[in-house]
Amino acid sequence: MHLFSTIAEVRNFSEKVKVSGKSIGFVPTMGALHDGHIELVKKAKAENVVVICSIFVNPTQFDNAEDLKKYPRTLEADCELLRSANCDAVFAPSAEEMYEEMPRLAFDFGNLETVMEGKFRKGHFNGVGIVVGKLFNIVSPHKAYFGKKDLQQVAVVKRLVKDLNFGLEIIPCETIRETDGLAMSSRNRRLSTQGREQAFNVYLSLKIAQEALKMGSTVVHAKAEVERHFKNLPQFAIEYFEIVDFETFEPITLFNPDRQTAICTANYLEGVRLIDNIVF
Ligand code: PAJ
Repeated sequence: MHLFSTIAEVRNFSEKVKVSGKSIGFVPTMGALHDGHIELVKKAKAENVVVICSIFVNPTQFDNAEDLKKYPRTLEADCELLRSANCDAVFAPSAEEMYEEMPRLAFDFGNLETVMEGKFRKGHFNGVGIVVGKLFNIVSPHKAYFGKKDLQQVAVVKRLVKDLNFGLEIIPCETIRETDGLAMSSRNRRLSTQGREQAFNVYLSLKIAQEALKMGSTVVHAKAEVERHFKNLPQFAIEYFEIVDFETFEPITLFNPDRQTAICTANYLEGVRLIDNIVF
């Protein structure tokens, strides 16, 4: 497995692969890899000849300096995992390599920036748009793999690709969970043992609302059920809990079984921000 730290090296590699007629699957990450990331790599490997994974904790998408500082960095262990998943090359640049100068680019992703993740993490999707755009230009893959765990991110990236005519396909991948239902996340390792045992309640809250809606409850009632659930769990602080139309991300009032609905949440536990969603 190659390990590249400069743009020139990975560009050169990608160009050679493409000249030889092989397809490239790309998995962008911020490292601290877990089985969720590795599933993306395995899917990319099943659908392409060569897989490139990037590991870069992107400063422009963090709205909170403390969160950026605390983000786990585990390059050696990450490379071990990637090697066993048959990844062909890792691109792990420094912040200076990626940002010689801070870009002034400003995207407008419409309502994606005013609801849920967009609303509570100001500038986050602009930073994602910038780094993903740069990575697509550097790596120039045929397909790029993104997890539905970050549902709004998938929509933002699809929009970016459409608006700027990146000649590649976005492949959304299922959320990988721990056995208790907790969505795998690099941030989970910041939880204490007790916190980790409690964290499944975030996923459970999505299932509680889903069940209520399926039984004919209104959105207001389904949300009230969730609030009741967390009344006995004061260690959780819900940032948002939204029931939205999957296509538009606009909040709905009544569940329509003919349309896809997404239930999305961000919830703080021990100062760790846990996000999750289900689509049905
Ligand atoms: P990161 O949080 O490291 O996630 C990298 C990719 O792995 C994303 O597409 C994310 O949705 C996916 N992923 C994370 N946890 C997952 C899980 N439990 N199941 C399935 N997929 C999962 O998302 C980012 O990094 C960054 O914003 C990035 C796109 C790399 C841009 O900096």
